[in-house]
Amino acid sequence: MVKPDSDASKTTGFTSTLSSRQVFQPSLPNQEKHLSDFLDVLTKRTAAEHFDSAASISDSEVKELIGEASQAPSSFNIQHWRFIAVTDPEIRQRLKSATIESNQKRVADAPVTFLILGDLQGHERLAGLLDETVKAGLLCREVADVWLAMAIQMYGNPLAARDEAIRSASLASMTLMLAAGNRGYVSCPIGFDPIRVNNILGISNRYMPVMMLAVGRASSGNTARRPRLSVDDILAFNVFREF
Ligand SMILES: Cc1cc2nc3c(=O)[nH]c(=O)nc-3n(C[C@H](O)[C@H](O)[C@H](O)COP(=O)(O)O)c2cc1C
Repeated sequence: MVKPDSDASKTTGFTSTLSSRQVFQPSLPNQEKHLSDFLDVLTKRTAAEHFDSAASISDSEVKELIGEASQAPSSFNIQHWRFIAVTDPEIRQRLKSATIESNQKRVADAPVTFLILGDLQGHERLAGLLDETVKAGLLCREVADVWLAMAIQMYGNPLAARDEAIRSASLASMTLMLAAGNRGYVSCPIGFDPIRVNNILGISNRYMPVMMLAVGRASSGNTARRPRLSVDDILAFNVFREF
């Protein structure tokens, strides 16, 4: 676990490498500026096809990215996500075989390919996480005990536990893509064969690989933003409709 680096961490229990200013900024000096920065990062993110194979990423920046990705929400704050940052060129070469040919150059060229894993038994760690939250004064003991009982009951169903692990790891994956974009990196989610990924990286049964994500600097030739369905096509107010 990363050591807390701010006063905010003492009261909140957060242990990310983010500074208190970045995480806990209570009111933004320039809301509009912040919003346009956000939209810039959001709309510039595309699934990159071409990565600069000469660019590198340091382990410390990988850690910062994961600190930012871990600000994503999760059910009961279980934080089912775990990350494997594959930076070793030899392992990246082996990882190529877990995806189709058209994706393989990305895994070879991007300086890091992340495997975002979901913890299928994340609720087993919840008691300790809740204790920390209670100790930090952010939750009362009674509510924490209710949460724990609820979580144990809900996730006693392995399918529910799996769904939740996928949801949480997916949210962390999206947050990771935005965090990478914010730092000038490009990314690409990559379809993969989970059995091959498990074998190559030695992932135990407790975890399922949810997302494979190549991150690096862009080289030329990346496709422009792909079109989206219109809001009218995808939005219903208040009740379901056949879309
Ligand atoms: C779960 C998932 C798997 C994906 N797998 C691949 C893939 O194997 N190869 C690829 O080129 N893009 C892949 N993508 C990227 C999508 O094709 C891309 O996000 C989509 O076409 C929209 O384009 P945009 O992200 O550039 O806006 C994947 C995206 C997701 C979310």
